[in-house]
Amino acid sequence: MAEVKAEEIFKEFKEHSIAEFFKKNRQMLGYSGKVRSLVTAVHEYVTNSFDACEEAGILPSVTVELKEEAEDKYRIIVSDNGPGIPKPYVGKALATILAGTKFHRYIQQRGQQGIGAAGCTLFSQMTTGKQIFVKSGTGKGKAYTCHLSIDTVRNKPIVTDMGDIEEKFKGLHIEGEFAEVKYEMSDHGVYEYLRRTALANPHIEIKYVDPEGKESVFVRAIESMPEKPTPTKPHPLGLAINDLLEFAQTSGNRKLSGFLIDTFSRMTQNKVNELKEFAKDVDFDKDPRQLTWPEAQELLKAFSQVKWIAPDGSHIKPIGEEQIRTALRNILDPEFISISQRKAAVFKGGIPFIVEAAVAFGGGSGKKTDEGYSGNILRFANRVPLLFDNGSCAITMAARDIQWKRYNIDLDSQPVSILVNVSSAHIPYSGVGKESIAQEDEIIDEIKLAVMEAARGIQKYIGGKTKLREEAKRYSTIMRYAKQLASDLGDITGRDKEKLEKSIEQLVAKHYPKANKEDKPEQEGNASALAEGDE
Ligand SMILES: Nc1ncnc2c1ncn2[C@@H]1O[C@H](COP(=O)(O)OP(=O)(O)O)[C@@H](O)[C@H]1O
Ligand SMILES: [Mg+2]
Repeated sequence: MAEVKAEEIFKEFKEHSIAEFFKKNRQMLGYSGKVRSLVTAVHEYVTNSFDACEEAGILPSVTVELKEEAEDKYRIIVSDNGPGIPKPYVGKALATILAGTKFHRYIQQRGQQGIGAAGCTLFSQMTTGKQIFVKSGTGKGKAYTCHLSIDTVRNKPIVTDMGDIEEKFKGLHIEGEFAEVKYEMSDHGVYEYLRRTALANPHIEIKYVDPEGKESVFVRAIESMPEKPTPTKPHPLGLAINDLLEFAQTSGNRKLSGFLIDTFSRMTQNKVNELKEFAKDVDFDKDPRQLTWPEAQELLKAFSQVKWIAPDGSHIKPIGEEQIRTALRNILDPEFISISQRKAAVFKGGIPFIVEAAVAFGGGSGKKTDEGYSGNILRFANRVPLLFDNGSCAITMAARDIQWKRYNIDLDSQPVSILVNVSSAHIPYSGVGKESIAQEDEIIDEIKLAVMEAARGIQKYIGGKTKLREEAKRYSTIMRYAKQLASDLGDITGRDKEKLEKSIEQLVAKHYPKANKEDKPEQEGNASALAEGDE
């Protein structure tokens, strides 16, 4: 066989755009499986709406509508009351992959990479050949509409039919057709996704019209905006060499020392002086843009040798105890709730995160099964519900490790919902699809502690309920024999059978005093006091 020359082989050498890459690897964006693909697209649109509204200081009201166009083909319409997108940016924002207002900031938001919306545009055009329709307005003056798609070869937007309309529309309305998708009323479907979103976001109002035209409204339970997360600087310990170089290359500082102080959290002149002791080969007066890989490596090593003040978690905003309580009452209406929130902890040595957990019992908690009930785990990252990939998620891992029996909880047979929300400016997702949290040890540990704390608060209540139920069972079993027993005793002793039966009943009732009040647990007041005070 004749050898093929490199020149020949490299005639085929080509560069590809990121859009082409995702066209080939759409599963990385969450577009795998018909049910999941539909949820992914809805998720991308609504999270963008929430982020945009919250950033603008507007309480989000979002409408989601699904229309079946053909088999496995749906139209998704999402409309919000947010700030909208200025005309010159709409193409870039919604039809360019890796473009957005969030990627370059270190702030806790739902979107991070600038992939979501353009990913939807790409998925729609790949499966239907159609463009996305957009309407945007500020509520003042004219709104505009346009159609969008992506030139995937260049990862550039194609904007057509751009024009103003005479409508005082405020917000963003986005509409697209998607094929290879399927609607399902299951734990993995759009309805459940929105229900869980409402659970973790009591300040949001969601109106949902399903493919059959049925309307559901998740009403706003709290009229105040959640506290705004503030941008924060990355902590030196959370960095990889590549991160450090990227920051350095875009720095506006003249000297490396100034760059370090301005860019990273907890970095001071004193710290820089300490670092100099460890990174002897690094010139701290050099232009940061000239930083080399070996120097960055040496710096990182030095970072790990000096002592740092723990990262500040004040920029992270969890849902909050009262908000969780209100939302759970509103949506699950449980008999009992217990909530816990942990203080900020760090993973990878430097990235702060906060875990909060709740356990709800009764009402609409858990899952209805053929035999009765089973428990379920509601996973959230920065208030966004995670419906897929639960096997690989840190939350599932942590939950599996807990000895539920110790807390009188049986996830196989009780109506229990466990809610876990992990908040951070940098959630370590285990894939680009962002459906599960990576199994970082520190995160798993914090989740376990949070869930166990919440479980402890509900332990007594469930214990009481279980005891009650057992007592009631025994009571009714014995009562079933009371008549027979009285009759036999009457025969033997010759005494009045009716009187005997009454005394037996009284005796049994005295022995099981709470048994005939089964579904009224004695201490509703006690119970919630217990839940409120669970520290
Ligand atoms: N509903 C919306 N209202 C206002 N701006 C939006 C909306 N949806 C998307 N955007 C803008 O488009 C950008 C790109 O969105 P996306 O591709 O989902 O990336 P990400 O959410 O990760 O930033 C956002 O950063 C935001 O600036
Ligand atoms: Mg997004």
